[in-house]
Amino acid sequence: MTTSTAPLTGKVVVVPGGTGNVGEGIVRAFLIAGATVVVPSRSQSRLDRLAQLIGPELALSLKGVNGTYGTFDEAHDLAAKIATEHERVDHVVASVGGWWMGKALWDTSEAEWQKHFVDTTTSHMALARAFVPRLTPDGSYTVIAGFSGQKPYPAAGIVSMHGAALLMMREVLSAKLRGQRRVNDLILGPIINRSRPGGNPNWLTADQVGEAAVALTRTPSLTDEHIVLDNVDDLKRELGRMNG
Ligand SMILES: NC(=O)c1ccc[n+]([C@@H]2O[C@H](COP(=O)([O-])OP(=O)(O)OC[C@H]3O[C@@H](n4cnc5c(N)ncnc54)[C@H](OP(=O)(O)O)[C@@H]3O)[C@@H](O)[C@H]2O)c1
Repeated sequence: MTTSTAPLTGKVVVVPGGTGNVGEGIVRAFLIAGATVVVPSRSQSRLDRLAQLIGPELALSLKGVNGTYGTFDEAHDLAAKIATEHERVDHVVASVGGWWMGKALWDTSEAEWQKHFVDTTTSHMALARAFVPRLTPDGSYTVIAGFSGQKPYPAAGIVSMHGAALLMMREVLSAKLRGQRRVNDLILGPIINRSRPGGNPNWLTADQVGEAAVALTRTPSLTDEHIVLDNVDDLKRELGRMNG
């Protein structure tokens, strides 16, 4: 058995945003790989729906936590609770925040800015500061980001700005940690998911994003990287690199 196929039995993986369109695929992939997967959510009904989508057998190792992480204090308390209950946190894959578009920057309202830049960026920062210090020594932190964080998207300017902030947050973590913990980001193109089941056949599915996230956590040599997954060709190339 190689590192790339070793089961993640006994590992605890936290997936904030696991109830979301992309998060569902990430959660499923880690459960299939044998991990215990903890999903915090602001909504019990979204947790119940996730368990249904995952199915009863895999859901045995899915642990939903109805809680918030929108402030530093909330994320701190959540991380402490999860670490106490599960006695470890090995990996975190943060898939928080979604898509929004339709206005030029100068037409964007303050409420939209608050919701799609401030709230989502604060949540990512709160999660990183709460969980990174708690990761096991061989653990990892992965930020899920979108293509618009690297390429300006005029009608979704505040989502582009949020994405760019996440990528720099990851770089700052890398610069500070200097290899003490592994941190990476996956920069995704458009994803085929339960809310958008159709699309270009070269787009990744949410389950394929999960496959990449699992392979990344299983690859000890991979750290401090922006990993671009625009399409299936990128995925094949990156899986080849991760699986050696
Ligand atoms: N979908 C795509 O095609 C696509 C493409 C490229 C990149 N991405 C990236 O993938 C990640 C997830 O996207 P998604 O499409 O899965 O989004 P989504 O379906 O809207 O899910 C967003 C998730 O974030 C959580 N969340 C926590 N705090 C939030 C807040 N203040 N505002 C919004 N959501 C919050 C939600 O959890 P609760 O509501 O359960 O608390 C939910 O699980 C994002 O980083 C996005 O940029 C997605």
